[in-house]
Amino acid sequence: MPKNIIIATERVATSRTDLTEPTSNLTTVHSFLFHRPLELSEPEYPQVEYQRRQQFWDPIRLAIFTLIIAAIIGIAIGIVTHFVVEDDRSFYYLASFKVTNIKYKENYARKTSREFIERSHQIERMMSRIFRRSGESRFIRTHVIKLSPDEDGVNILLVLMFRYPSTDSVARIKKRIENIVYQSLKTQTLPLTISKPSFRLTRCGIRMTNSNMPIPSSSSMERIVHGRETAIDGEWPWQASLQLKGAGHQCGASLISNTWLLTAAHCFRKNKDPSQWVVTFGITITPPEVKRNVKKIIIHENYHRETNENDIALAQLATRVEFSSIVQRVCLPESSIKLPAKSSVFVTGFGSIVDDGPTQNTLRQARVETISTEVCNRKDVYDGMITRGMLCAGFMEGKVDACKGDSGGPLVYPDKRDIWYLVGIVSWGQSCALPKKPGVYTRVTKYRDWIASKTGI
Ligand code: ARG
Repeated sequence: MPKNIIIATERVATSRTDLTEPTSNLTTVHSFLFHRPLELSEPEYPQVEYQRRQQFWDPIRLAIFTLIIAAIIGIAIGIVTHFVVEDDRSFYYLASFKVTNIKYKENYARKTSREFIERSHQIERMMSRIFRRSGESRFIRTHVIKLSPDEDGVNILLVLMFRYPSTDSVARIKKRIENIVYQSLKTQTLPLTISKPSFRLTRCGIRMTNSNMPIPSSSSMERIVHGRETAIDGEWPWQASLQLKGAGHQCGASLISNTWLLTAAHCFRKNKDPSQWVVTFGITITPPEVKRNVKKIIIHENYHRETNENDIALAQLATRVEFSSIVQRVCLPESSIKLPAKSSVFVTGFGSIVDDGPTQNTLRQARVETISTEVCNRKDVYDGMITRGMLCAGFMEGKVDACKGDSGGPLVYPDKRDIWYLVGIVSWGQSCALPKKPGVYTRVTKYRDWIASKTGI
C-alpha cells in the first residue's frame, strides 16, 4: 500500500513538470532563434510572453489539473477497494495425478534420496511452466509431497499454491485451474505424460506446517509412544473447541467449511442457545489462534439421549474463518466408503487424560484402531448397544482412548494420498480406556446426506 501511494505522488510531480516545461522551453527557443528586438528592454520581453502564454494555457491547465485530481481520487479508491474488498487469499490445492511414462523406483519412498529430489524437481518445474505459460499470474508455487507406485506408472501428490481475490468463488477458481491443466495436456509437449482422468484437486483434509510444508501422516504416528501425545501447530487444523461462556471448554468439534462445524448432539444437552457458545481454533485453548461466535445450532431431530443414537449436531459460525496452515477443513467421506476393521485412525481433543480429570489446554492426539460392530456388540463388550449409526474404535486391551471433554471431536483417517477424512465423532464409552470398552463414535458416513440437507456441503 505505501508503495502505491508513492507511485501516485510521483505521477503528480511528473505531470506538474510536464506542464511547466513547454513554457520555459519556448522561451529559450525564442531567445536563441530570433534576434531580440532592440527596442524592448530585457525584463519586459519575458513578461509579455509569460502573460500571453498563461492566458492561452489557463483552461487547458485547469482541465489537466482536474484530470489529475480525478486520477488521484481514482487511484485512492482503487487502493482502498483492493485492500478492503479484494483482499487476496492464498489457496492451497492438493493435486493428485498419475504419470504413465515413468516407472516407480524404490528410492522414491525416501524424500531425501537423489531419485526423489530429482524427480520432484522435474515435476515442480513442469507444473510451474504449465501455469506460467497459461498467463496465470496468481500461481505462487508448487511442492511435491509424495510419489507412490501404480500398476502403470507413478502417482504424484503435490500442493499448488495460488493467490486469488477473496471475492472469487471457490468453484470458479477450481474450474480455472483444471482448465489450465487440461488445456496444456492438449497443447504443450510435456516431459511427463499426465493421465487426464486421474487428475484431481482437493481442498479439504490438508495439513500444512507454518512454512507451508505438508505434514505427512506418518509423522503423527511416529510421535505416539504411550497413548496420547500433544499435537504440533497445524497438525489437526480442523479441530475446534466448543466453549460455553463463563464455563469454558465443553466439547470438541470439526470444521467442515468456512462456517460449519460438526459435533455431537449431547454437547448441547445443557445449553442450546447459540449466543452462549464460542468456538476457538489452534492447538491451545488459551491463547486461541482464532475465536468465533456461534450463529446457529442444529441438533439431529432423532437424537436419543438414553441410547446415544444419532449423536450428531451442526454449529454455524457467526462469521467465516479463513483457511490457513492453522485452520483448515476436514474432508467428509462419501456415504459409500467402508473402513475395514483394524484401520489406523486418529482421535484428537482437549479432553481429560485420566477418568474424571481436568480439560487439557494443549490439544492431544491418539492413534486407535477401528473395531467391527460385530465384535463391539459382543456380550462381554457393549452387548448389542452399538447401532448402525455408531462406530467403535480403540483397543480391546484398553489403554488408549478418548475421554471426558473429547466429545464432539474428530476421529479421522488419512487416505493413501494423505488427505484426511472425518469418519467419526467422539460420542460415548464406558469410563475411559478400559479393556473391552473401546470408544464409541458417531459413524459420519451414515449422516452424509443429513449433513448435506442442512448445510448444502
Ligand atoms: N461423552 C464424553 C464427553 O462428554 C466422551 C466420551 C468418550 N469416551 C470414551 N471412552 N471414548 O466428553
